[in-house]
Amino acid sequence: MKLNIALLPGDGIGPEIIEQGMKAVKAVCEKFGHELSYEEALVGAAAIDATGVPYPDETHELCMKSDAVYFGAIGSPKYDNDPSAKVRPEQGLLAMRKKLGLYANIRPVTTFPSLIHKSPLRADLVDGADFMCIRELTGGLYFGRPQGRSEDGNTAYDTCVYTREEIERIVRLAYRYAQKRRKKVTVVDKANILATSRLWRQVSQEIEKEYPDVETEYMFVDNAAMRIIQWPKSFDVMVTENMFGDILTDEASVITGSLGMLPSASIGIHTSVFEPIHGSYPQAAGKNIANPLATILSAALMFEYAFNLTEEGKAIRNAVAASMDAGIVTEDIASGGKAFSTDEVGDWIAGAIVK
Ligand SMILES: NC(=O)c1ccc[n+]([C@@H]2O[C@H](COP(=O)([O-])OP(=O)(O)OC[C@H]3O[C@@H](n4cnc5c(N)ncnc54)[C@H](O)[C@@H]3O)[C@@H](O)[C@H]2O)c1
Repeated sequence: MKLNIALLPGDGIGPEIIEQGMKAVKAVCEKFGHELSYEEALVGAAAIDATGVPYPDETHELCMKSDAVYFGAIGSPKYDNDPSAKVRPEQGLLAMRKKLGLYANIRPVTTFPSLIHKSPLRADLVDGADFMCIRELTGGLYFGRPQGRSEDGNTAYDTCVYTREEIERIVRLAYRYAQKRRKKVTVVDKANILATSRLWRQVSQEIEKEYPDVETEYMFVDNAAMRIIQWPKSFDVMVTENMFGDILTDEASVITGSLGMLPSASIGIHTSVFEPIHGSYPQAAGKNIANPLATILSAALMFEYAFNLTEEGKAIRNAVAASMDAGIVTEDIASGGKAFSTDEVGDWIAGAIVK
């Protein structure tokens, strides 16, 4: 198969972690006989410095003609410490999401046995937890209008809006993914209070009938927040609206133990973006100490969700698990053992894939 990828390394540790991810991508292509082509473009502070804008037109054109976008991270202290800066790296991320029509953010929550001691939860609660959070990205309270203040400045308001089309699109995606997993969907809402949640529930109940092989569970968001902590193993695919998802995906992500481990996929109308959930970790930039696993695991998602190549994704995940079992890990997860550099971890994993 021909794979055509846009590479957007971004800022801080972005370039070094994407370099490790590409070692894994190339190793998979070699092992499974895929033809790989890729091209790199600027985004974030690096793009502002070079062109004056955080998501240049050339970058967008490259993304549009690619089958998938492999993204590092953006953000720089130069802009974080200058609240008056009019052009900011984060605007690049928002512009990219909007222009590529990214409507669903997916974060798998998977635990690795050698990291369970890092979880804030008891080992018996997290051991074996394996679920996927799907968050709607384009609607809800963050985009609904009107939004603003009263004339005297003492009253503020936001508006939560959802259309049937937005709900159908993402709920169907959740069912399709559940069919490839353990066949259970949890729809999270606040249908006892909110009109938008009642539409979510109504539309989900209609779609549920199209997927009789999948078990459906409806859960209020406050209950879901508790259940993630009390019984994470009860979930398979969780789907929810934008703000609930923003909060629940962060809650779910910490139960696995380390930020350097968590990949994500954003599914779009035009193309999809694969990226670690962490930021540009500027303190580590250029030091060869950043954990590349979230980025390498994002490449596994890219094979699975952009190219529908599940064996290739599994090969990457198995190599990552093997690196942790062998103790070939960076300092953030070394727990007293020897710490390896970003490069060494990337090389070891690429070697394990082709073996
Ligand atoms: N998607 C994105 O590109 C994205 C997301 C979040 C933050 N940011 C930006 O990143 C910059 C830094 O933000 P921050 O410090 O809040 O978040 P961050 O995720 O970059 O770092 C927070 C902490 O997490 C740990 N960490 C993160 N990535 C790691 C890795 N690969 N290996 C080991 N440890 C890791 C480190 O201890 C680090 O101090 C800011 O400019 C922010 O705007 C970008």
